Amino acid sequence: MKSVLITGVSRGIGLSIAKEFIQNDYFVFGTSRSIFDLSEALNSSNCQHLILDVNDRDSIASIMKDIPGENNTLDCLVNNAGITADQLFMRMKDSEWDDVINTNLTGIFNITKPVSKMMLKQKSGSIINISSVSGLMGNAGQVNYSSSKSALLGFTKSLAKELAPRGINVNCICPGFIESDMTNELTSDQRDQALSQIPLGNFGSDTDIAKLTLFLSSDNAKYITGQSISVDGGMYM
Ligand SMILES: NC(=O)c1ccc[n+]([C@@H]2O[C@H](COP(=O)([O-])OP(=O)(O)OC[C@H]3O[C@@H](n4cnc5c(N)ncnc54)[C@H](OP(=O)(O)O)[C@@H]3O)[C@@H](O)[C@H]2O)c1
Repeated sequence: MKSVLITGVSRGIGLSIAKEFIQNDYFVFGTSRSIFDLSEALNSSNCQHLILDVNDRDSIASIMKDIPGENNTLDCLVNNAGITADQLFMRMKDSEWDDVINTNLTGIFNITKPVSKMMLKQKSGSIINISSVSGLMGNAGQVNYSSSKSALLGFTKSLAKELAPRGINVNCICPGFIESDMTNELTSDQRDQALSQIPLGNFGSDTDIAKLTLFLSSDNAKYITGQSISVDGGMYM
């Protein structure tokens, strides 16, 4: 059975990705900072939840011992955990900058390093980073968030070049507006304004992201590496 490590599985896009992998016969290691019953959420015993803050290097080192799957391999890493702390730049607190950069960028460095070591030994694997349309086009009120998500594009390309000789693919997905707690809170004016920027005229679903993630982890995508693929209804092109 293949195995995948997904960060931030307790809700939203991460949970949807976990469902997609479990339905396709993967063993799922899923993390979040809070306690979460992953087996119940996935209705499967082929999974293990690990409490983990991606900012905590010591706990990453200790959970990595539990990670390798059945064949002592890890086939895929999905760096999904991410946060926002939106604020106009002139009002942005140092802590709002630090928290977002630490979680969305340094957190990915923290977890990808030990996973890459494992994948280099096994000479196979795929790493998928969840960025954002905000990292491609910028967004007022999100200087911290879009900086962290743009940085993932460079992270993806450079790491893809380093790991390609060992058969490891590294790619990035840039979701646009995805139906979520956040989009549900928009007023109807804000919703109309957002929709007016989307050529396909509707918000995406977390399943749209999950299906592409599964594809990028599969042999069907073995000739794709170092790419950033938008799933945004044509918002950025
Ligand atoms: N939703 C969208 O429209 C959208 C658009 C573009 C990009 N994205 C990106 O897609 C990813 C998922 O977004 P989402 O909307 O599904 O987010 P979400 O609903 O807020 O879920 C975030 C997940 O990450 C976990 N998490 C947060 N901080 C963490 C940390 N320091 N260490 C470990 N886990 C942590 C959360 O669990 P705990 O709180 O329990 O730790 C939760 O499971 C993010 O990277 C986001 O930037 C989302």
